[in-house]
Amino acid sequence: MKICVIGTGYVGLVTGVCFADLGNTVRCVDTDVHKIKKLNYGSVPIFEPGLVELAKKCYKDKRLIFTTDLKKSVSYSDIIFVCVGTPTVKETNSVNLKYVFKVARDISKYIKKFKIIIIKSTIPVTTGDKVEKIINSKVRRKLFEVVSNPEFLREGEAIRDFKYPDRIIIGTENKRIIKILANLYDPIIKKGAIYFKTSRRSAELIKYASNAFLATKISFINELANLCEKIGINTEDIALGMGLDKRIGSRFLRTGPAYGGSCFPKDTKALVTTGEKFKVNLSIVRSVIKSNDNRRSFLTKRIYEIMSNKLKNKIITFLGVTFKANTDDMRMSSSLSMIPNLLKKGAIIRYCDPSGKKKEFDKYSKVSFYSNVPKACMKSDLIVIHTEWNEFKSLEFKKIVKKNNFKIYDMRNLYSSKLMKKNKINYFSIGK
Ligand code: UDX
Repeated sequence: MKICVIGTGYVGLVTGVCFADLGNTVRCVDTDVHKIKKLNYGSVPIFEPGLVELAKKCYKDKRLIFTTDLKKSVSYSDIIFVCVGTPTVKETNSVNLKYVFKVARDISKYIKKFKIIIIKSTIPVTTGDKVEKIINSKVRRKLFEVVSNPEFLREGEAIRDFKYPDRIIIGTENKRIIKILANLYDPIIKKGAIYFKTSRRSAELIKYASNAFLATKISFINELANLCEKIGINTEDIALGMGLDKRIGSRFLRTGPAYGGSCFPKDTKALVTTGEKFKVNLSIVRSVIKSNDNRRSFLTKRIYEIMSNKLKNKIITFLGVTFKANTDDMRMSSSLSMIPNLLKKGAIIRYCDPSGKKKEFDKYSKVSFYSNVPKACMKSDLIVIHTEWNEFKSLEFKKIVKKNNFKIYDMRNLYSSKLMKKNKINYFSIGK
């Protein structure tokens, strides 16, 4: 099929590349000339395992085109995916829809024959109605249909999530479009994904409800982990025992630092704001946001405790600073609040992250980046395992730290407490 993807951010690029890989001809459009130029030179601006290779292959096969020419791309395509950003408005926690609405206005100029306009950007419920209205002010209703088809891609797993999703949510009541899109997604449906058709508004809300629910699961287990720590119970056993009940499921019950990233923090806030708009108090989601905020300071205080409140001139090494492994994304990562607080107490911070140096810490003279794990750990007083990168999973700490009485705070429970005890390492796990 002929596809146009508008917006070459995270969602747009993964969507464009993966649909091209399925044999479609995809035009990825962006207003950023520089970005398009770079993409045409084979440089992919986001860190996502496997994406560069796939993009290069499809580009070479001429099934993937990067362009700034919206007119040509819209005219040429049958299906238009809207994948532009929907950032949070800081003051109100609402979603800034100006890019989505601009796309609606821009494409209206070029719709001369029937187009399916699919919104993949995460948008509050009823946004599809507004987009339809904008386009309809310029284009006859017969010539377009606005569909919601939210994405559930995880950073670092996006290609696998695209190819093997649990479900594909299609928000439209138009039977002809349901058929066309079933055809588009056929290779994925054949691999076992459930093709779920619903109303456009429901599809929009499913995305927020899913992310808020997953965030709730994480916050729930994180609070329970605090209780387990006090009683001396292993949270992992609780999560496993609970998860064996199929109604609960064991996924997303791993305790750790506050959840971060671009989606959970943003979408939970947006859902509460949507509730307010409709005069509904989503008190559970509200509590989750608060609980997650508290988690950041809770774990920082735990570091103070581990260090007996003596942080002045102590070397603290963070293994990983991103919000999770296999991404270079720092958005809402708990390290962003922990590190400045430790600096205030006089600590000297080193960090090592496989995704490289982070501009967020450039302003601090007492924060240094190391690309080499042993060098980062050498002579440290405390090692904080913050992110669960594979690179940090089998380190011989005694050999690399070369200091007596160093401590380890493993916020991802990557190591066995028993083995650490046996090796006489001062080791602190989480939720045990
Ligand atoms: C999430 C959703 O999973 C995805 O469907 C949606 O499209 C975008 O938001 P992402 O933000 O990439 O994806 O990461 P995810 O793997 O879901 O992790 C989010 C946060 O939760 C991370 O900080 C992670 O460390 C944390 N997490 C996840 C836990 O603390 N415990 C868990 O058990 C799972």
